[in-house]
Amino acid sequence: MKTIRVAIIGCGSIAEFRHAPEYAANEQVEIAAFFDHNPERAERLVDVYGGRAAPSIASILADPDIDAVSVCTSNETHEEVTVDALQAGKHVLCEKPIATSVEGARAMMKAGRESGRILMVGHNQRFSEAHVVARRLIESGEIGKVLTFQTTFGHSGPEHWAFVKSTDSWFFSKERSVLGAAGDLGIHKLDLIRYLLEDEIADIAAFGGALHKTDADGEPIAVNDNMVCIVKTEGGVLGTVALSWTYYGEEDNSTVLYGEKGILKIFANETFPVQVKRSDGTSREYEIEGIQTNDNQTDSGVINAFVDCIVEGKKPPVSARDGLVSLKLIEAMMKAADERRSVRL
Ligand SMILES: NC(=O)c1ccc[n+]([C@@H]2O[C@H](COP(=O)([O-])OP(=O)(O)OC[C@H]3O[C@@H](n4cnc5c(N)ncnc54)[C@H](O)[C@@H]3O)[C@@H](O)[C@H]2O)c1
Repeated sequence: MKTIRVAIIGCGSIAEFRHAPEYAANEQVEIAAFFDHNPERAERLVDVYGGRAAPSIASILADPDIDAVSVCTSNETHEEVTVDALQAGKHVLCEKPIATSVEGARAMMKAGRESGRILMVGHNQRFSEAHVVARRLIESGEIGKVLTFQTTFGHSGPEHWAFVKSTDSWFFSKERSVLGAAGDLGIHKLDLIRYLLEDEIADIAAFGGALHKTDADGEPIAVNDNMVCIVKTEGGVLGTVALSWTYYGEEDNSTVLYGEKGILKIFANETFPVQVKRSDGTSREYEIEGIQTNDNQTDSGVINAFVDCIVEGKKPPVSARDGLVSLKLIEAMMKAADERRSVRL
């Protein structure tokens, strides 16, 4: 069995809570190196998982024994680090959002094509068991044709999650986060809707703003902390999408789909992650694993899927194109909110 040697670039929360433990749990992987431009963050993970704290990204990319890298850095660096890694012949698992601009995502796709290496994006919602079951139920006609939906992703904000737990978070910076809560959370939910409905969003209208978060100077942050949207798919499904960094007290990761024959609820009930309520009065509950939340980090499935692709030479289940499409939707959502009109994709 070939061992895949991996390096993790960016050693903050997503590296600590998902990438490092999930690589470490995969028997086909050896974690060879960590790099963070705050070296003590890399060293902390070396102490737990082994490998070495690399002195630079260049030293990782120049190491012929490293097969793959996870890009777990802040949003504005994804494009450059990923393109460099692909050009150096590494397979790349890049965290979401794929990039902070559509042009950046296209440059990454081009580098992926030219290198022949795998470029996968960390949209983990597709891998959650409840979402996999929900897609199967929709496909099998359990609630009939889906007519409308509502999907929500909200929590108390990245300053409670990321390595730096203060208003000084890069997530609040226009230059570094770029997309705010819309990009941070919406990218997951739009990817999920595309996955569940096997349909594309065609029209989008939105309102957004910085309602409550303040920066280090006490001023409203320069990116949105809330975004509420209405979408219409190519297939004619209407939906609402609510994204928030100000759901204090409890995370909401729910999606409810209303079909011709009933309702499918996902993560709307604490005991049963998936519920079907049919128009004939019958219902069914599915007791399956919950999703990873900021407070409950279970196996995301993303890392194992990436490793499988490398070992088996398979196409990634979340492609760079999937990352690009969701990013285009986020850009359209922000444009719709800025210009107070609906945007057609
Ligand atoms: N898939 C998910 O559910 C999920 C969840 C959280 C975060 N993320 C994504 O993961 C990425 C990281 O988020 P986080 O929450 O871990 O943030 P974080 O601030 O906790 O960690 C980011 C780390 O990257 C380091 N870094 C930044 N630029 C670097 C560079 N050029 N070279 C080396 N290190 C660099 C920082 O020093 C920091 O330690 C973000 O893009 C975020 O959107 C994804």
